[in-house]
Amino acid sequence: MCGIVGYVGKKNCVNYVLDGLKHLEYRGYDSAGIALFENDEVKIIKKCGKLDELIKYINSTKKIESNCAIGHTRWATHGKPSDLNSHPHRQNKVTVVHNGIIENYEELKEILKEKGYCFKTQTDTEVVAALLDYYYEGDPIKAIEKLTEKLDGSYSLGILFSDIKDTVYGTRKNSPLIVGVGENENFLASDIPAIIKNTKKYIVLEKGEIAILKKDSLKIVDFSGKEKEKKILTIDWDIEAAEKNGFPHFMLKEIFEQPQVIKKCFRTRLLEDDVDFEIKNLPDEKIKQIKKIHIVACGTAMHAGLVGKNILEKLVRIPVEVEVASEFRYKNPILNKDDLVILISQSGETADTLAALRLAKERNVFTLAIVNVVSSSIARESDSVLYTWAGPEISVASTKAYSVQLACLYLLTLKFAKIFKTIEKEKLKEYCKFLNKIPDVVNDVLKLNDKIKELAKIFYNNKNMFYIGRGLDQCLALEGSLKLKELSYIHSEAYAAGELKHGPISLIEEKTPVVAILTQTNLSLKTISNIKEVIARGADVLLIYNDEKNIDSSLLEYSIKLPKTIDLFSPLYSIIPLQLFAYHIAVFKKCDVDKPRNLAKSVTVE
Ligand code: M6R
Repeated sequence: MCGIVGYVGKKNCVNYVLDGLKHLEYRGYDSAGIALFENDEVKIIKKCGKLDELIKYINSTKKIESNCAIGHTRWATHGKPSDLNSHPHRQNKVTVVHNGIIENYEELKEILKEKGYCFKTQTDTEVVAALLDYYYEGDPIKAIEKLTEKLDGSYSLGILFSDIKDTVYGTRKNSPLIVGVGENENFLASDIPAIIKNTKKYIVLEKGEIAILKKDSLKIVDFSGKEKEKKILTIDWDIEAAEKNGFPHFMLKEIFEQPQVIKKCFRTRLLEDDVDFEIKNLPDEKIKQIKKIHIVACGTAMHAGLVGKNILEKLVRIPVEVEVASEFRYKNPILNKDDLVILISQSGETADTLAALRLAKERNVFTLAIVNVVSSSIARESDSVLYTWAGPEISVASTKAYSVQLACLYLLTLKFAKIFKTIEKEKLKEYCKFLNKIPDVVNDVLKLNDKIKELAKIFYNNKNMFYIGRGLDQCLALEGSLKLKELSYIHSEAYAAGELKHGPISLIEEKTPVVAILTQTNLSLKTISNIKEVIARGADVLLIYNDEKNIDSSLLEYSIKLPKTIDLFSPLYSIIPLQLFAYHIAVFKKCDVDKPRNLAKSVTVE
């Protein structure tokens, strides 16, 4: 939540900072701002609303000449979106941009008021600026050290000191911050897309470190001022991956990337008829000891976890619990030494999931992360990591990241089933052969896009929708429903199809839309009965199915037919129509598809 950028170099900084912010807008888009050195002074320009408002304003004013700036795109936490509450915030010599939440800011504010500081905003960040200014007596390192001793919560900060020209400082705790290493220019950013156009080399800043960026030098020091030797990492994807490439929205582009990213995720792990990959620090002998698995995640990643539970329990016969990270961390979970905790996260920075990981580590339970963003906090802190290799996911609504989370869970399940000897050799071969075909199956399902768009046109004007399914189809119903509500603001509920009759069916009336997912042969007759029950009460059912058997014409008024494959693997492609349906509905409703209201891509607050 919130995106930070910083630039110092030979060139005019404005375009660099604005372009960097454009690529971080997925982190928040309530307001945007920039602070820069101009004629030896720090000037701040900030505007409520999306970044375009700031760009329009800057373009309408006199050309700015500056080589050093910090910028910010905000997801409001403390104080409603307004020009005043927008970052950067200044107190005397100190100007800051901030990503995170300072939990003790009220208390600090009172102390600072007694010392004579005045506050114009409701933000926690203005307090950070004041406290840093209070400690600043010409030595920025000392001042930052003292500041961080007093702050509770999470932060990554970009800082300008008005008397230290053309220098950007950065520090962090529990919110991400990277430093882009350039030639005669250096960059600070919350995430890679902000810097990739300009450099592929970067350093991940850790807690307790301060980055000092000048145009011709870059230092990372600890709080005693001692320079640290840091590993320079290389970004292994190109700028095109962070651009729309002709698609009207990142979401559509990312949906259509799914065949390639699934293929990439399987590459080196899935052989023609076997799975073969190591999990670092988790040898087969240790896997054999595992008695229980906890999958911990949030939102879409948690929905992937539900599929994981289903297939692991089915094929490996190990009990699996799926927990929402924000609940897991506060419920004093029962964890035993032979348990395995799997954390799933696209960003690798989700605060709740990160806290759950730390809790599991404190309890000495082995932690395995399934993560997309390389070198993110969750990836770095887990005992082991399985990268999903989806490339950058920019759209706030997660699509391709979900599919590769599923892909990793399928690989893991087959690996575990082999180790626990719960799968016959021939079955394993059959399953692996089929998994290799999944990218093609996904491709075929994507060809249904036009048909799905037509259906979206029929349904988009509704105010409520229901999603139902049984078994694996229920996991998909939950994800389909989340996609719809987050993108199009249509109220939607997902239920186990058999559960409707225990209450929710009273909400079904004439023309209530119900999306029914039907891909599991053994549950099909039961689900069909549930579908008929809602049709009998007037519902308009959109049926997503893969087998004609037992389907009569009363079920087919609105329908999408998927390929019939092995039931266990259907989530890997049945999710596509649900993603496309939600996408087209949001487009018909003229919603901001890539940046739905009130949301941010990377949720680094609790
Ligand atoms: O980065 P993470 O996967 O940890 O994010 C978790 C959720 O915030 C995320 O999956 C969210 O639910 C999706 N953006 C919804 O599409």
